[in-house]
Amino acid sequence: MKCYTVNGTGLDGLRCEESHALGAPGPGDVLVHVCAVSLNYRDLMVADGRYGGVQTPPIVACSDMAGEVLACGLGVTEFQVGDRVLNAPFRCWPAGTMTAAWAKTFVGGNGVDGVLAEQIVYPAAALVKVPEHFTFLEGATLTIAGLTAWAAVITHGKARPGDWVLVHGTGGVSTFALQIARMIGARTIVSTAHVDKAETAKREFGVSACVDYTDDTWPEQIAKITDGRGVDVVVEVAGGELLGPSIRSCAYGGRVSLVGVLDGVESKVNVRDLLAHQVTVRGIFMESTAELRALVHACEVAQMRPFISRVFAFDHVLQAYKYLESQQHVGKVVITVRSG
Ligand SMILES: NC(=O)c1ccc[n+]([C@@H]2O[C@H](COP(=O)([O-])OP(=O)(O)OC[C@H]3O[C@@H](n4cnc5c(N)ncnc54)[C@H](OP(=O)(O)O)[C@@H]3O)[C@@H](O)[C@H]2O)c1
Repeated sequence: MKCYTVNGTGLDGLRCEESHALGAPGPGDVLVHVCAVSLNYRDLMVADGRYGGVQTPPIVACSDMAGEVLACGLGVTEFQVGDRVLNAPFRCWPAGTMTAAWAKTFVGGNGVDGVLAEQIVYPAAALVKVPEHFTFLEGATLTIAGLTAWAAVITHGKARPGDWVLVHGTGGVSTFALQIARMIGARTIVSTAHVDKAETAKREFGVSACVDYTDDTWPEQIAKITDGRGVDVVVEVAGGELLGPSIRSCAYGGRVSLVGVLDGVESKVNVRDLLAHQVTVRGIFMESTAELRALVHACEVAQMRPFISRVFAFDHVLQAYKYLESQQHVGKVVITVRSG
């Protein structure tokens, strides 16, 4: 069986390794033939040591896969051989609020093996059936990016039809956030540094307006677009210098779903902006398996399909990482592990 490992010293440390085929799954576990894996920004951080430092020994890379059930362990009743499944990011976070023990089960980082392998064993309780209308490539995009966007817009963002939702960036989490917000009838504004990506967002996700987060006047533009009202939800993937203006762009009772720190971990926040407009800032760290199931249902009912930028072959994993790193993509970057 082949798998890719990373060791936290950079993309030079990415290796394709040969190991023994996995045996029969233990009680409660499922053996899965991995068909597709998607990449996330976190995978770049794990590979270069910004997320968990040097990995000794190296760990199997990546966290998001879709595949086919090969065998079920004792007590597994919810899946059968041949079922199409995708994984939750945590081997154990069934529902409710995260615990310290569950946080350590996040796969593909911090010493925990990931899923970029021909086969994996995963707890049945942390697997979900792939939406019926999805391919495996599409199924592999929900684990982190889809679920985080769902948490940011729906679970904690509590967006409602007619609300204004501001989404920074056009990567994996951001494009899902645009799609999910549109699915429930919210109005979306995307902020991107690229004119061509703004055009793609208008065409593919029906965004109402585009701004550029590198242009300091973007908060004033948001005020104009929303007739001075401000936005109800911000999907904040950048943190850093963007967080303050994001809070200032909120309507009364606005919610900032703080997802990422692409612009840094230190922010200057005007407390008056927070309290005067009664804004809530909520840290998001993906969500539970129960929320992933809810997202799958929503995708099926709305017939929503993930937006995939490029697909790479299993032999071209390094090129896939480099493409993600170049930030040329809109949406998701996916690897075919087994075709069909
Ligand atoms: N907390 C969680 O649960 C969670 C889960 C998933 C991801 N994240 C975090 O969320 C962020 C995005 O992840 P991803 O996988 O969606 O990444 P991605 O697919 O690589 O997308 C990154 C996009 O973000 C935009 N961007 C880059 N630098 C920016 C900046 N300084 N300010 C505003 N936007 C910027 C760019 O969009 P344009 O090219 O359009 O400008 C870029 O294409 C990362 O920080 C990641 O670690 C957190």
